[in-house]
Formats: sequence, structure tokens, C-alpha cells
Amino acid sequence: MKKAIYPGSFDPLTYGHLDIIRRAADIFDNLTVSVLDNHTKTPLFSVEERVNILKEATKDMPNVRVESFSGLLIDYAKEKGYHVSIRGLRAITDFEYELQIAQTNKMLSHGELDTMFLTSDVEFSYLSSSGVKEIASFGGDISQCVPDYVARLVYDKYNIK
Ligand code: PNS
Repeated sequence: MKKAIYPGSFDPLTYGHLDIIRRAADIFDNLTVSVLDNHTKTPLFSVEERVNILKEATKDMPNVRVESFSGLLIDYAKEKGYHVSIRGLRAITDFEYELQIAQTNKMLSHGELDTMFLTSDVEFSYLSSSGVKEIASFGGDISQCVPDYVARLVYDKYNIK
């Protein structure tokens, strides 16, 4: 059975992430989307909130499950038996960072964890969670970036009606 993990911060989930999730779920029998619980960052949404957002967004995808993890990805992947990590590539600027993470994970896992890149749809290549947060914090329109219910939750965080 082919299974993969799609790790990330998802703070918040964007249409770009959703596109990668859908496409990876078509390729693999089982896909686990896993939210990084990173104590060194101050996210807009708690891990629980992000997991719930992802569960709502993927409820029509029966082979997708949502979890969270902390610590090293390779340790989590080993514990759960995942050998492939999915990451999205929007532009060449993502590539250097992603290549470094992929090679580090390969080295740390002694070749056990490989990374598969899916290039983002051009429609979403400009999208980023940090951009969404900045736009929303100034009351801008994020309706083309995230699902409606996510947009509402983001605006609520900034006390924007
Ligand atoms: O959505 P993001 O923030 O770009 O996702 C980054 C993520 C979660 C894939 C990466 O930071 C990660 O896997 N962190 C866990 C810690 C780890 O394993 N670090 C070693 C690889 S550099």
C-alpha cells in the first residue's frame, strides 16, 4: 500500500495547500497531512485549530487523514511507517529551501525518508500563508486565497468584521 505524509505549518491552510493535498491523495492510497507543532514559532492558529481546519477541508477525501507532530519529521515518519514526504514547490525561490530540507531528511533517516515534490498549479503559485495573514490583518480580501470558512476564522483572529 502506497502511503505518504504531507507535513507543514498550514497557518493557515490555503488553496495552494489544498491543491497539493488533492493531487497527492490521487497518487497515493493513503495520505496523512500533518501539522507541525513548533514551539519556537508563534502561529496565528493553535495546532488543534489547524488540525480541525484541515479535517473540515479534507472531509470529502476518504484516503486523507490529519494529524500533528512535534520534533523531527524523520522520527515521526519512522514511528508511523512513512517513507515519502510530499512538499509543494511554487517557484524557484522555494527550491533551495526545500532541497536542503529534503536532503537533510534523507541524510538523517539514512535514506529511509524520501521527498516527492509536486509543483504548485500556476493559479496558486503566488499564494503563501504569511501573505494571507498580512492581507487579512489589514482587512484585505483573502477570498481567492483560502476557503470561506478559513477566511472568516482568519479575520476573527484580527478582530475584523
Ligand atoms: O509549512 P512549512 O513551515 O514550510 O513546513 C516546514 C516543515 C514542517 C516541513 C519542516 O519545518 C519540518 O519538517 N520541521 C520538523 C523539524 C525537522 O524535521 N527538521 C529537520 C529538517 S530541516
